[in-house]
Amino acid sequence: MNNFEFKNPTKIIFGKDEIAKLANEIPDNAKVLMLYGGGSIKKNGIYKQVKDALSVFDIVEFAGIPSNPEYEILMEALEIIKAQNITFLLAVGGGSVIDGTKFLSAAAKYEGETPWDLLAQRKPVFNGLPFGTVLTLPATGSEMNGGFVITRRETKEKLATGGPALFPQFSILDPQVISSIPQNQIANGLADSFTHVLEQYMTFPNQSLLQDRFAESILQTIVEVAPVIMNDATDYDAAANFMWSCTMALNGLIGQGVSQDWAIHMMGHELTALFGIDHAQTLAIVAPSHYRYNIESKKEKLAQYAERVWGITEGTIEEKSNAGIEKTEDFFHSLGIKTKLSEYTEDYENAAGIIENRFIERGWKGIGEHGKVSPGDVATLLR
Ligand code: NZQ
Repeated sequence: MNNFEFKNPTKIIFGKDEIAKLANEIPDNAKVLMLYGGGSIKKNGIYKQVKDALSVFDIVEFAGIPSNPEYEILMEALEIIKAQNITFLLAVGGGSVIDGTKFLSAAAKYEGETPWDLLAQRKPVFNGLPFGTVLTLPATGSEMNGGFVITRRETKEKLATGGPALFPQFSILDPQVISSIPQNQIANGLADSFTHVLEQYMTFPNQSLLQDRFAESILQTIVEVAPVIMNDATDYDAAANFMWSCTMALNGLIGQGVSQDWAIHMMGHELTALFGIDHAQTLAIVAPSHYRYNIESKKEKLAQYAERVWGITEGTIEEKSNAGIEKTEDFFHSLGIKTKLSEYTEDYENAAGIIENRFIERGWKGIGEHGKVSPGDVATLLR
């Protein structure tokens, strides 16, 4: 196991009707900016629960943060933060609203030329406006980590960064919010969290017995609850297990002391930036090809995964690892998620070349756990 330092300061408040506790978590004299997305919280009652809980606070609202939160729109919120001397941010939404809020937390304290540099220069963020979250969509783990991803429409870029200042002070997780999520977004949440675990796990074996078992248990839980929650989003026990699995998949714990991959996300973000494909769908497109292309360096871990997560005990390491990839693809299909770029767009011919050039321009010479997947490899496996 590699050396590590681990600190996760986010307080999790988990369970039925816990949104009512919101006021306890925000400083008494705070001037709050409440941020949310396209309005689903007004239809499902979450908006009212938040407003009722915060009735004694001075609250300004900013609505309309879109999926894959856009820089241009967030800059409008930054104006409000400055003009109205906002002291606390409250994200009420899924990963997009939370990531947008993290960007604003950092941008409000940023002293450089333009806040886009936070992303372009990928410098760790050590100073931010305090913020909390009410999670409405389990998927990204953003509610308990310090990372965020922002899209810039004019340049068709989608970049990620983060830092120790960008962990939420608290996150409220009430699994009942899941009952109003459309089935395709539940599928996205399952695929996204599943792939988060894979990115930290599917490297090479014998690094950490415990982290492997943590990862495998999250994967098994997601596989077990997936058909239940896809069939009935009001099943509270399935919703609770789904929600907590998503948070545990990317709150830092399972990645401590082990090499991580993240190549799937790096390629996937480009597909969203170029084609507007949902984040989780891009992961399902890239993951099987990434594993097939890099099977030599990943086959031991793929075989372990096939055995422990999918119960495949027969065959050679190669046979098991291939079966593990097939099971992964089948799992995405079982969620109604397609795994080929050509099934999302007809315009895919040039994508691999564009992404190769972008990786070269950014100096991403080698990605993955060994830093050996070159821009050329990226283009080949995407093709
Ligand atoms: O806009 P609203 O009205 O809120 O509707 C949203 C949106 O249309 C809807 N929704 C959310 N909660 C709902 C609901 N509809 C009904 N009932 C509810 N309770 O769902 C749609 C998708 O929401 P969004 O927040 O975009 O989805 P998600 O949570 O998947 O977030 C995706 C973003 O997170 C980034 C992705 O790149 C993408 O930009 N990620 C962030 C990560 C992180 N910070 O650690 C890691 C991830 O891998 C990912 O990259």
